Parts: sequence; C-alpha cells; structure tokens
Amino acid sequence: MSVTGVSDSLGGSSSASSSPQITGVNERTLSPEETEKLGRDQVLVSRFKQEKLEADAQKNWDLFYKRNTTNFFKDRHWTTREFEELKNCREVQGQKLVMLEAGCGVGNCIFPLLEEDLNIFIYACDFSPRAVEFVKKNILYCPERCMAFQCDLTKDDLLDNVPVETVDVVTLIFVLSAIHPDKMQTALEHLYKVLRPGGIVLFRDYGLYDHAMLRFKSGNKLGENFYVRQDGTRSFFFSREYLAALFHKTGFESLVNEYVLRETVNKKEGLCVPRVFLQSKFRKPSLL
Ligand SMILES: C[S@@+](CC[C@H](N)C(=O)[O-])C[C@H]1O[C@@H](n2cnc3c(N)ncnc32)[C@H](O)[C@@H]1O
Repeated sequence: MSVTGVSDSLGGSSSASSSPQITGVNERTLSPEETEKLGRDQVLVSRFKQEKLEADAQKNWDLFYKRNTTNFFKDRHWTTREFEELKNCREVQGQKLVMLEAGCGVGNCIFPLLEEDLNIFIYACDFSPRAVEFVKKNILYCPERCMAFQCDLTKDDLLDNVPVETVDVVTLIFVLSAIHPDKMQTALEHLYKVLRPGGIVLFRDYGLYDHAMLRFKSGNKLGENFYVRQDGTRSFFFSREYLAALFHKTGFESLVNEYVLRETVNKKEGLCVPRVFLQSKFRKPSLL
C-alpha cells in the first residue's frame, strides 16, 4: 500500500478537497450500514428499459454534452504524474509518442497533454458527435498534432481512422464504466488492433464500492455493480479481478492493477465521502 498526494478531477462541486490517496490491492471495507444498503438493493430495471438505455446510449451522452457543454469535467492535469509512460517520449530525443484517447469527451485529458508536451500525436475519439465537435473547436486543437473523430468503441473499427499497430499508448479514463458489460470485451479488442506490440493501455475508472455506487437509490440498478443515472448514462464499478479478466481474455498482460482510495471532503456540505478508483496498466505482448 502507498500514499501519494494526487488529486482527481471528476467534475461536480468546486468546494471539495481531498485527502492523500492510498493505493492497494484490497477492496474498500464496507460499513455494516453500507453492506445492508447494497444487500437490500436487488430489484433490477426492467429488461425493456435496459434495452432502451442501450439503444439510446449515444443519444444520452450527446444530450449530456448539449446540457453541460465543456463545463462538466475538469481538465485532467494529473495524467503525466500518474502515468509516467506519457512522459517517455521526452526522454528519448526525437521520439514522438502516438496516443489514442478512447472516449475523449470534450478533451479534458488531451488538451493538458498537448499543452505540456510538444512531442506527441493524439488520436481522440468519442461516440458523442457533439463532444467531438467541442474537441475540434478548442483553441488548442491543431490537425498536425491531433485527430478527433466520432466512433462507437463497441461497434466501429478503429482501423478506419488509425493505422494498424501504430499506437504507443491508449488512455481509457472513465470510459469503460459507461459501456455495457457485455460489450466491454469488444471495445478492448478494437483497442488491441491499433496498439503496437508492447503498447500500453492506461486505465482509470470507478472502483468497486466507490461513494457514487452507494449513492444510487433503488430503481437504478441494471445488474451486478452496474447502475443508471438520472440522465440515462450508465456506470459500472470495477473490481480488480473483473478488469484483469477482461483484459487478459483480450490478450493483454497486467502491469499494474490497483485501487486508489481517498476521502473527499465537501466543505460546503460538511460531508466526507470515500472515493474508490481503479488505476491500471495493461500491455499488448511484444513480438518475440
Ligand atoms: C466520463 S466521460 C470521460 C471523458 C474523458 N475520457 C475524460 O477523461 O474527460 C465518458 C465518455 O465516454 C464516451 N463513451 C461512452 N460510451 C462510448 C462508446 N461506446 N464509444 C465511444 N465513446 C463512448 C462518452 O460519450 C463520454 O464522452
């Protein structure tokens, strides 16, 4: 277990502050009240509604960006601190890092990187056409250094936009949780095809028993560790074992796969809530 002082930025209240984060392999221990609450919440959303949510997934994310424009998520300035692989391109002179930000939203992950690092080319895709337009309209967007395109990771072949095995690093930041568990594997297979042998996926997403999972009211449960928000977007909460099994089945090998635990204090409301994320690195095996 280790303790560091990195802050996350999921959007929401600006009056929140965080304790140092603790990383480790053990799941968060639930209080008896939390265990009871999760145990009580067994009724699932009807099959008809679940099918509609899946059919409307793209529309619901596009409406999310219509309502929130670029104002919901904060820029993610922590990525190079957490994932040293993103800095490697500066260590070897002249080496350009080719990155794919899968599910880029409005670019909160890519623009800090483009600002910070001149020697990087970023492919960025999202299935919300509106989000992709916001990326393209950003003042830092420049076609020599970035290419944004619309794509559904669960259906579309990334090879239509990205040459086979040319990507050094894929970032998957709070995206896989938005995809139906039955389709996560297909999304990973699409990423696998564009990664070069030895290329890496950098992953951060909601972890099992995160505060957001315990906050769902009954009537929002879609399946095990899978919930729907008021706006129709969905969220899965990953255990280490579940994520590792998905990646291994696709052919990746694990490098790191750890929970990140932190207490976030909302000063305005005087509330202290436990946040749990899963932060991981998986590699496509190198050629022998
Ligand atoms: C929580 S946002 C994260 C955005 C970005 N990665 C960041 O760090 O700010 C999740 C994004 O995943 C996208 N998404 C969800 N399902 C997707 C799919 N099947 N294919 C591509 N993008 C998807 C949504 O449109 C949304 O922009």
